[in-house]
Amino acid sequence: MDLKELLKQYSQALSDSRAFWDIVAFEHSEWPWEDESTLARVLDGMRSLVDPVWPYEPSEASEFPPPFWLTQGIKGRKLAQVQAFIAQVPNQLAIATEWCAGKGHLGRLLSFTQQRPVVSIEWQSALCAEGAELARHHQLPQTFIQQDVLATTDDGKIQQTLRNSQTAMALHACGDLHIRLLEHATEAQVRDIFVAPCCYHLTRQAYYEPLSKIAQACDFRLSKNALRLAAQGLVTAGRRERGLRQTELVWRLSYESWRQDQLSDPCYRPLNSVSKAIFAGPFEDFCRWAAAQHGMSLDLSFDAEYWLAIGKQRFLVTEAIEQVRLKFQPYIERWLLLDRAVFLQEQGYEVSLKAFCERELTPRNTLISARARV
Ligand SMILES: C[S@@+](CC[C@H](N)C(=O)[O-])C[C@H]1O[C@@H](n2cnc3c(N)ncnc32)[C@H](O)[C@@H]1O
Repeated sequence: MDLKELLKQYSQALSDSRAFWDIVAFEHSEWPWEDESTLARVLDGMRSLVDPVWPYEPSEASEFPPPFWLTQGIKGRKLAQVQAFIAQVPNQLAIATEWCAGKGHLGRLLSFTQQRPVVSIEWQSALCAEGAELARHHQLPQTFIQQDVLATTDDGKIQQTLRNSQTAMALHACGDLHIRLLEHATEAQVRDIFVAPCCYHLTRQAYYEPLSKIAQACDFRLSKNALRLAAQGLVTAGRRERGLRQTELVWRLSYESWRQDQLSDPCYRPLNSVSKAIFAGPFEDFCRWAAAQHGMSLDLSFDAEYWLAIGKQRFLVTEAIEQVRLKFQPYIERWLLLDRAVFLQEQGYEVSLKAFCERELTPRNTLISARARV
């Protein structure tokens, strides 16, 4: 599979289909597309693109369970993900670095399974302490470095650790965090790199900054809104949670419709986030809070029922637009994965993308595996 060629194809297809996904649904009070046949044609084109991610193939290693005493405290799904991840990491003797490790479950199980030293890097000192205690308890050669991996100063320890490592791995390190690993690990020429990315939108930048030269040459920029779409997964929210989310959206849209009407201002103006408790009270209280955010106030003529009905209508439009945007989710995510993969190739690595576990375990189930060419 020529990943560079595929990245070019995905870039072109996403550029051509931008009108359908590069759009903020709740800013629209009406259906924004005139010609529905274009959507069908564009989606047909997207479906014809080759998927760069090899499907999941269970291996014996991923089915062999570690002893129960080692896995206590790791929740079922996380344990299955960790096992599946480890099954992809070749057996070596040299140090493995675990990036944004949490309590270091991945590192601890790898250290046990492959009998090798692991250095786990994590920001939160409490997680480092718990992980170190577990490693000590099980007499495993796993150590922790408490460090902010995004810090640009004081990162000598990280660089040194990576230079001494044969493997660098990150399971579900969010946005900027796993990008920092790709940059540091390639600079240190770590032989094997394994990254399962997630939460692409958790980045300090307002717009995505592509890593590879091909993606940098693209004529579109991914906003946080598009990155959030890429990280969307199976809807796992329960009925109550979905109900609360719907109320919040309807109320926000109702208020926004009133504000736009009052000020004759067609441009959407965001509101801060607010304690969910407000959505259990009267709609008018929410509107008073929202109006205060915009330096406005409600007067006695405020017709709550009327604006709620408008909000419900807009909610339906928002949901319908989101359904269209969701159809582009896999392609934006693949573009982001390809960008990472091609960046690694540019740094002298052989790269593959494959599903390391079933999607039911986690929607972020793609593993980027890279080996230095030397
Ligand atoms: C989603 S969790 C993943 C933890 C673990 N890899 C796993 O899969 O269970 C992300 C971890 O990154 C850590 N983290 C967040 N920001 C960090 C930073 N700037 N430097 C180091 N670790 C960070 C968090 O404390 C958290 O433990």
